[in-house]
Parts: sequence; structure tokens; C-alpha cells
Amino acid sequence: MTGIRLRTLPYCLLALFLSFASLDRASAQDVGAAPDVSKEGVAPGATAAAAPAAAAGATTGDAAAIAAGDALFKGNCAQCHAVNEVVVGPALAGITKRRSLSWLIPWIKNSSKVVASGDDYAVKIFNQYQKQQMPSFQLSDAEITSIVSYITSQEGVNSPVGGDTKGVAGKDATDTAAAGTEAGAAKYVDILLIVLVVVLIVLVVTLVIIANIMKDVLRGRKDLDGRDVELLEQRFDWTKLYKSKVVRGLALGVFLLAVLYESVQGVMAVGLTQGYQPTQPIAFSHKLHAGEHQINCAYCHTSVYKSKSANIPSANICMNCHSQIKTESPEIKKIYRAIQKNQPIQWVRVHNLPDLAYFNHSQHTQVGGLECQTCHGPIQNMDVVYQYSALTMGWCINCHRETPLNTKGNGYYDKLVQLHDKANGAVPFTVSSNGGTECSKCHY
Ligand code: HEC
Ligand code: HEC
Ligand code: HEC
Ligand code: HEC
Ligand code: HEC
Ligand code: HEC
Repeated sequence: MTGIRLRTLPYCLLALFLSFASLDRASAQDVGAAPDVSKEGVAPGATAAAAPAAAAGATTGDAAAIAAGDALFKGNCAQCHAVNEVVVGPALAGITKRRSLSWLIPWIKNSSKVVASGDDYAVKIFNQYQKQQMPSFQLSDAEITSIVSYITSQEGVNSPVGGDTKGVAGKDATDTAAAGTEAGAAKYVDILLIVLVVVLIVLVVTLVIIANIMKDVLRGRKDLDGRDVELLEQRFDWTKLYKSKVVRGLALGVFLLAVLYESVQGVMAVGLTQGYQPTQPIAFSHKLHAGEHQINCAYCHTSVYKSKSANIPSANICMNCHSQIKTESPEIKKIYRAIQKNQPIQWVRVHNLPDLAYFNHSQHTQVGGLECQTCHGPIQNMDVVYQYSALTMGWCINCHRETPLNTKGNGYYDKLVQLHDKANGAVPFTVSSNGGTECSKCHY
């Protein structure tokens, strides 16, 4: 009897470990769902002052409408409006107090029509914002209502009053709230994990102690059979492991492989700068500008469709917006300083081909119709730009071999395509069929 119990001890331990591990996972899932339940509790906590306003707006009944409005607002309005701040257009907080829904719906559908109708308020605000025309939106009444309820729910959240705005600068109110919820949940998971690990350690120690006590008790008994005695006296011999040739051989093998791998990687990477991500003099974020505010790449990189190189925007382009937006931010003040001193901002160059290679942007973006992201990766998600592609000769040539030429609607190619199809119709007309892998195309 006792023999059986002793032998099953390791299995009991294993089973306990496993059940704890699955318990851990299950509770992690609970935590994943937690933000939904505790949203109202956590989100306003991001800014204490905002709590009453957010809670008041977020009654459970219109939560769905607010979520829909949130998405619509981000997709259509956020590049010009924020709830509690003037961006390109006015801050929209309190809009339901200024205007009725029956005014807002036609305004959002077609603001210029309302201005043209001579509506006093519309004309006044139009003039106040330098006669900038707000675009028309093909949104339904219900969609506009949901945007309005989203705006109401955000009133006062993270409002830029007082001296602490710099700390939250650059973040949309909702994002901060959401981040707060996420961070809260992540912290909760961490604490839970630590507690579980501690519990497991205590458990293991207790079990080892129990096992030893049991062994001692068993040693005192005389009616044990041979196998039980053997099991009792078993000791783990570390020196045997250390002296074993197999183990030594394995360790040496792993070590040599690691050294080899590292040196091969090192040699291959000479002259490669993939992943290069220098720190820039101003914390300019593509994620904020090209991502969240959806400013077109060519608004800043004005020559990318027209010429060989894509320019880096001058400080004047930044001033189109930043003469009014975030004027108090220390990062934006760096732009003002550059302009005062009449010195360009010293951006650190990220991509740099050697002089021996010729690369032309307009050939690829305008003529070839390639997206920036094909070569530069998800720039619209990068806070700090990094070099996404290898930029080696092999990288250029591979794409030229694989990519069909964009010949549609381009009379220049018609004859060439006919000739190609006659000679070799089964193979697509790629960049390389057009000579795009000839040395002289890229080297001169
Ligand atoms: C391209 C910029 C732009 C976009 C996009 C935009 N607006 Fe506007 N909005 C403005 C400007 C500028 C004004 C000020 C009035 C004017 O100049 O026509 C304004 C005014 C308003 C007003 C009146 C504000 C007040 O205080 O009286 C409301 C309401 C409004 N916008 C709602 C929206 C909504 C909702 C969306 C998204 C569906 C949206 N706007 C998208 C630029 C924009
Ligand atoms: C088309 C308008 C526009 C242009 C052009 C523009 N920005 Fe912005 N920028 C914004 C908006 C909108 C924000 C976000 C403001 C907010 O969060 O309320 C922003 C935020 C920033 C911030 C974060 C400021 C902070 O402290 O939160 C920096 C830094 C910045 N821009 C730098 C630049 C630089 C440098 C340029 C020129 C290369 C530039 N911006 C051009 C619209 C623009
Ligand atoms: C508001 C202006 C603005 C917009 C919009 C913008 N950029 Fe930029 N971009 C800059 C500035 C300023 C730099 C230089 C600082 C840096 O590297 O972050 C830059 C740098 C870059 C670089 C690295 C250049 C180098 O040094 O090698 C790439 C690539 C780039 N942008 C691509 C894009 C793409 C793709 C988009 C559209 C999705 C885009 N940019 C939209 C302003 C802008
Ligand atoms: C076919 C690949 C490819 C595409 C597509 C592409 N780029 Fe580039 N880009 C490059 C390479 C390669 C360089 C480095 C050029 C050099 O060092 O001469 C570069 C450099 C840049 C630079 C740094 C300035 C310069 O010209 O050296 C910017 C900014 C830039 N790209 C923006 C863009 C934008 C914006 C788009 C989309 C409209 C785009 N690129 C599309 C490959 C590409
Ligand atoms: C993602 C695919 C892609 C990558 C990467 C790429 N190219 Fe291209 N390239 C094209 C396409 C597509 C065209 C054809 C454009 C057209 O004429 O329609 C082209 C055309 C060219 C041409 C003109 C060829 C001709 O026959 O006139 C040159 C030169 C060139 N690329 C150089 C480069 C260099 C240098 C690199 C690497 C730094 C590079 N390309 C990387 C897709 C790519
Ligand atoms: C599609 C464009 C393209 C074509 C075609 C091309 N190259 Fe290149 N080549 C490059 C680029 C880009 C580099 C720089 C890459 C780097 O620094 O890793 C380069 C680099 C080189 C280098 C210098 C290597 C070094 O490490 O300094 C040599 C030599 C070279 N190419 C020879 C050739 C020859 C020979 C051909 C014709 C068989 C050819 N290339 C065709 C784009 C091209």
C-alpha cells in the first residue's frame, strides 16, 4: 500500500502543478474580460476631475451608440476636431447646449449649405474659423446622433485646464482612458501571476517536506519489499551528470553552434542597416500625424510622386497647423526656435542608399503605383521611424523579378507588352522583363 502511495507522489505533484497552471490561465481570461465590466470604474480614474462627466454620459443604455459614435468620430472628424480642444475646427464639447440636433444634422451633412442659407450662427462660426469649409458627410441621422452622444460622453475628459496639460499632451482623451483601462488590467494580471508563483513555491516546499517525513516514517518500518527500499534510498547524483561524456559533448556542441550563428549573422549584416531607428531632434510621430490624424504622406513629403527623392518637410509645413495647434508644447516650441534662428530642423536621416545606386521615388510611386508601405512598412503605426526593408541590391532585384509592370492605361508600354506576350505570353510582364535587372538601370 505505502509503496504505491510513494511511487505516485511525483505524479500527484505533476497533477497539482498542471491544475494550477490551468487555473492560472482561466483567471487570466477572466482578467481579459474584466475591462468591459469595470470600464466605468477604471476609465474615469485616468483623470480624477473627469470622473463625474464621463460617468454621467456613459449610462449603460447608450453605450453601444457611444461606441459607434467613437468609431465614426475617429474615422471622419478627428483630423479636424477634438472634443475638448480646438484643432482645425472648434472644440465640440458643449455642442448640444449651443446647438440643437435639428441644426447639427443638416450642418454635418452639408455645412456650406447651412452657411449659404444665411443661418446667423453658421455664418458667424464660418467667419470665425477663417472661412475654412468643413467637408460634407454622407452620414445617416442615426449615425450623427451617435457621434453627438459620443461627444457628450467625452466632455471634460482630459480637458486642458490647469498646468498639467503637458503631461497628457498629444493623446486623445479616449485613448488615454483606454490605455488606463489596459494598464490597469495588465497590472492586475502581473499581481495575480506573482501571487500564483509564490503559492506554487510554498506548495513545492511543503510537498518536499511531506515527502521527506514520509520517507523517514517508511525507513522505520521493516515490512517493505525490495523495490520500495530501492526507491527510498535513491539519491540524485550530480557528479555523475557532470562527468558524463554525453552531457559534456552536448554542452560543447550548443556553445559552438551559438558562436557560429552569431558570427555568421555578424558577417551577413555588414553594411546592413535594417531596423535602424535613430532618435530624432523633435518627438515627431508618424503614428499621430499619418495614423490617427490621417494626414496624407504627400502633404509633407511633397515631392515623392514627382521627383527622385522624397523631401523631408521644412518647418514651414509644420507651421501650417502648429501656428495654432499645441502651441504650448515644448516639442512644438522647438519648431518655433528653428524658425526664429532661421535654421532647418536637424532630422537624422534614416534611409540611405550608397551613392553607387540610383533609386527614384516617382518611378515607383507614381509610375509603378506602389504603396509607400510596401517598402517602408507600417509608417502610420510608427512613433519613431525605422528602416523596415533591407535596402540591399537583392531586395531591389527580387521585387523587380516578381512584380508585374503597371502597364494599364500607359500607352508607352502597349507595344512592349504586345511584343512580350507574343514571345512569352505565359510569363507575366514584370519589371525585369522590361530590363529592370540590368546593371545599368541602377548603377551609373
Ligand atoms: C477638414 C476639417 C473638418 C472635418 C473633417 C470636420 N470638421 Fe467640423 N468643422 C470644421 C471647421 C473649420 C469648423 C468651423 C466652421 C467652419 O469654418 O465651417 C467646423 C465646425 C463644426 C461644428 C460647429 C461647431 C460649433 O462650435 O458650433 C460642428 C458641430 C462640427 N464641425 C462637427 C463635425 C463633425 C461631427 C465632423 C465629423 C463627422 C466634422 N465636424 C468634421 C472642420 C472640420
Ligand atoms: C495638417 C496638420 C499638421 C501638420 C502639417 C503637422 N502637425 Fe503636428 N500635430 C497635428 C495634430 C492635429 C497634432 C495632435 C494635437 C493633439 O494631440 O491635440 C499634432 C501633434 C504634434 C506633436 C505632439 C505635440 C505634443 O506635445 O503633444 C508634435 C511634436 C508635432 N505635432 C510635430 C510636428 C512637426 C515637427 C511637424 C512638421 C514636420 C508637424 N507636426 C506638422 C497636426 C499637424
Ligand atoms: C506631418 C508631416 C508628415 C506626414 C503626414 C508624413 N511624414 Fe514622413 N516624415 C516627416 C518628418 C518630419 C520626417 C523626418 C523625421 C523622422 O524621421 O521622423 C519624416 C520621415 C519619414 C521617413 C524616413 C526618412 C528618412 O530619414 O529616411 C519615411 C520613410 C517617411 N517619413 C514616410 C512617410 C509615409 C509613408 C507617410 C504617410 C503614411 C508619411 N511619411 C507622412 C513628416 C511627415
Ligand atoms: C520601391 C520602394 C519604395 C517605395 C514604394 C517608397 N519608397 Fe521611400 N525610399 C525608398 C528607398 C530605397 C529610400 C532611400 C533612398 C536613398 O537613400 O537615396 C527611400 C527614402 C525615403 C525618404 C527619405 C528621403 C529620400 O528620398 O531619401 C522618404 C521621406 C521616403 N522615402 C518617403 C516615401 C513615401 C512618402 C512613399 C510613398 C508615397 C515612399 N517613400 C515610397 C524606397 C521606397
Ligand atoms: C516592391 C517592389 C520594388 C522594390 C523593392 C524596388 N523596385 Fe524598382 N521598380 C519597381 C517597379 C514596379 C518598377 C516599374 C515602374 C514602372 O516603370 O512601371 C520599378 C522600376 C525601377 C527602375 C526603372 C527600371 C526601368 O526599366 O526603367 C529602377 C532604376 C529601379 N526600379 C530601381 C530600384 C532600386 C535601386 C531599388 C532598391 C533600392 C528598387 N528599385 C526597389 C518595383 C520595386
Ligand atoms: C534594381 C537595382 C539594381 C540592379 C539592377 C543592380 N544593382 Fe547592384 N546594387 C543595387 C543597390 C541598391 C546596391 C547597394 C546595396 C547595398 O549597399 O547593400 C547595389 C550594390 C552593388 C555593388 C556594391 C556592393 C557593395 O557591397 O558595395 C556592386 C558591385 C553591384 N551592385 C553590382 C551590380 C551588377 C554587376 C549588376 C548587374 C548584374 C547590378 N549591380 C545590378 C541595385 C542594383
